[in-house]
Amino acid sequence: MLRKETFLRLRDYIYEKTGIYFHESKMYLMENRLQNRLRELGLSSFEDYYLYLKLGNENAKKELLNLYDVITTNETSFFRNPQQFDALREIIVKEYLKNGKGPSFGLRIWSAACSTGEEPYTIAIVLLEIQERTKVDLPFSILATDLSPKVLESAKRGVYSEYSLRNVNGALREKYFTLTEEKNYKLKEEVKKYVRFEFMNLMDLEAYKAFRNMDIIFCRNVLIYFDERAKRRVLENLFKCLKPGGFLILGYSETLNQQRFGFRPILFPGTLIYQKGWENEKGNDS
Ligand SMILES: C[S@@+](CC[C@H](N)C(=O)[O-])C[C@H]1O[C@@H](n2cnc3c(N)ncnc32)[C@H](O)[C@@H]1O
Repeated sequence: MLRKETFLRLRDYIYEKTGIYFHESKMYLMENRLQNRLRELGLSSFEDYYLYLKLGNENAKKELLNLYDVITTNETSFFRNPQQFDALREIIVKEYLKNGKGPSFGLRIWSAACSTGEEPYTIAIVLLEIQERTKVDLPFSILATDLSPKVLESAKRGVYSEYSLRNVNGALREKYFTLTEEKNYKLKEEVKKYVRFEFMNLMDLEAYKAFRNMDIIFCRNVLIYFDERAKRRVLENLFKCLKPGGFLILGYSETLNQQRFGFRPILFPGTLIYQKGWENEKGNDS
C-alpha cells in the first residue's frame, strides 16, 4: 500500500525530474501505475522503490526511464484537435509561402511531447498535401521528442490501430498507409522519412540547446500535467527555441499569458496559436 508520506516523496521526486505534478487526489493513480514496477524489481514496498530510485547508480538511471514510461499519459491520435492543423495550413504555411522563407531555407518543425508519433506524422501529411495541391516546393523537417522511451519506440515503428486513425479520411488512409495482416495501418516511408524521433525531457534546460532556430513548435497536451512553475520554465525555453516570427501551438486548454512570454496570440476559428514577435530578433540565442 502506498502511504501518504511515501506518495509525497515520490510525487516531489517525479515533479523535479519531469514537471509532472500529481495532486493528492491522484494518489491511487500513482499507486496503480507504479505497482508493476515494484513487482518487476521484486521490491516489497513503495518506500523501497523510492530508495531504489534515489540510489543514483546505473540501475536507478535505467529504472528512471521505466518510471517515465509508466507515469506519463500518452493519449494521442492523428489529426487530434483538427482546427490546429487547419491553422497550420491556413495561417502558418501561407505566411511562410508569402515570405518565401519556407521554400528557400526549409521549415524546421519540432513536435515536443510527440507520444507515439501521430502528431508529427499528421504535420508531415498536412505539408505533403499542401505541396501536392499548390505544386510549390516546401522543404521541411520535423524533430519529434518525448520523455517516454516506450512511446518513441512505437512512434519509430509507425504502425497504428483503427482507433488512432479515427479522424483520417479514406483517401488519406489509402494514400499514406498500408494495411497489415493484423488490420493495422503502417505508415509509408514517404511520410516517415520526414520525422526524426529523439528522447528529450522538457525539464532538462541543457537539452534545449539542440532545438534552437525552430520555425514552428507543437507542444500540445503536455503542460496540463505540469504546475505553474514548470509550465513557465518550459514556455520560456520554447520561446528561446523559436526564430523571431516563429509559431507555437499549444493544446486546446493550454492558453498562455502573452505579456509574460512575448508571444502574440492569433485567433483562428476554434483555436489560438501564438507567434513570437519579430522584435525578438536579438533575444533568440540568449
Ligand atoms: C497526452 S500526450 C500528448 C501527445 C501529443 N502532443 C498530442 O497532443 O496528441 C503527452 C506526452 O507528453 C510526454 N511528456 C510528459 N512529460 C514530459 C516531459 N517532461 N518532457 C517531454 N515529454 C513529456 C508524455 O510522455 C506523453 O507522451
